[in-house]
Amino acid sequence: MSIQKPVGTQDLLPGAVEKWQYLEGKARELCRRFNYREIRTPVFELTELFQRGVGETTDIVEKEMYTFQDRGDRSLSLRPEGTAGVVRSYVENKLYGEPDISKLYYIGPMFRYERPQAGRYRQFHQFGVEAFGSEDPALDAEVIALGYTFYREIGLKDVTVEINSVGTPAVRAKYREHIQRFFAPVKDKLCKDCQSRYDRNPMRLLDCKIDQAYGEGAPTILEHLDEECAGHFEAVQAHLKAMGIPFRINPRLVRGLDYYTHTAFEYKAAGIGAIDTIGGGGRYNGLVGQIGGNDRPGVGLGLGLERILLVLEAQGVDMPAEPPLDVYVIGLGEAAERETVKLLQTLRLRGLKAERDYLGRKIKAQMKSADRLNARYVAILGDDELARGEIAVKSMATGEQETLPLAGLAEAIAAKK
Ligand code: HAM
Repeated sequence: MSIQKPVGTQDLLPGAVEKWQYLEGKARELCRRFNYREIRTPVFELTELFQRGVGETTDIVEKEMYTFQDRGDRSLSLRPEGTAGVVRSYVENKLYGEPDISKLYYIGPMFRYERPQAGRYRQFHQFGVEAFGSEDPALDAEVIALGYTFYREIGLKDVTVEINSVGTPAVRAKYREHIQRFFAPVKDKLCKDCQSRYDRNPMRLLDCKIDQAYGEGAPTILEHLDEECAGHFEAVQAHLKAMGIPFRINPRLVRGLDYYTHTAFEYKAAGIGAIDTIGGGGRYNGLVGQIGGNDRPGVGLGLGLERILLVLEAQGVDMPAEPPLDVYVIGLGEAAERETVKLLQTLRLRGLKAERDYLGRKIKAQMKSADRLNARYVAILGDDELARGEIAVKSMATGEQETLPLAGLAEAIAAKK
């Protein structure tokens, strides 16, 4: 039997890959305007980084990581998300020593052992940004605006922004007690996961789809914010309003990663079956310190590219396809065929997309191939034309044919672009 790709992964074949290149190009261009610079970190890191960074009691670390021992007996894990690695790199390379704040972005594969379904893969791709070094709520608002602007500029419609404040660790410690008190009477009725969450990570009780009914009327964290947290949250909202970014406050929004403080947010859109979250992020003021650096605040986001493509498709948004061939070159006769090799190189050096036959096919089959490749022009060189220093050029759009000087072919085609 032939070998197939691992469950939950995808092959991005020519035809689809142009859409990826387009999205990536848009992301880079957006980051240029927002003044975020690219960072590339390893796809695997020491497992301990994610345990410390993402959180021991999160689903990601407890059951979704691809963890393995390498030949040197180190425990490594494929990165399940981008933030922890970028924080590690920020600390390791002492970027905090720079006079300005660090605004970084990344595009790349992430790995989570989840049950695959529409919009959920085991290898998926995120476009993410992380900004370090400032607690200013204007920076939270900038990050939220960046994600929203990205969705808008690629033509995604009806994206909603949901925001919440998850407070500081001190605020959360108090709030956890309220949550535990609220759920105590029904504790034994909760699902197995939630029974263990009750002690270890009670805020996640609000996030459970199975126990949704028990969570109704639960106290919200917004009711328990201290003055500083409430002020920060207010300011983020004011900035979003000023920028014209529509948002909804969702006091039950709990993210699946432990590092958030203050702002937490998600982007939602319909179109991928049961899944409606297409991106998310928030502020993480303790994370840099936890990973071993001088403590510095941070805020960032991660947008899933597969989910974006699924929603774009569901909404019928046009995506750029493979651009057509400028010219297909056909050589008739031995000398002419040899000459096409040189001619192609000249055309390509001039910036044109050019192709020829490599299967020894007859002229008719070559014309069909030119058609399949969407060629704008077919250039036909016979031994006689070659001797005269000329070449026949046919426009595939109009069927018109003309004879041009061979030496001027590249210039002539380029001029017709
Ligand atoms: P996250 O919410 O775990 O956050 O993931 C962000 C996005 O990645 C999701 O909204 C979704 O679009 C996509 N995603 C996650 N898991 C999968 C999957 N199995 N298949 C397909 N897409 C998926 C983070 O990862 C944080 N690092 C975001 C962040 C950056 N927060 C601060 N800075």
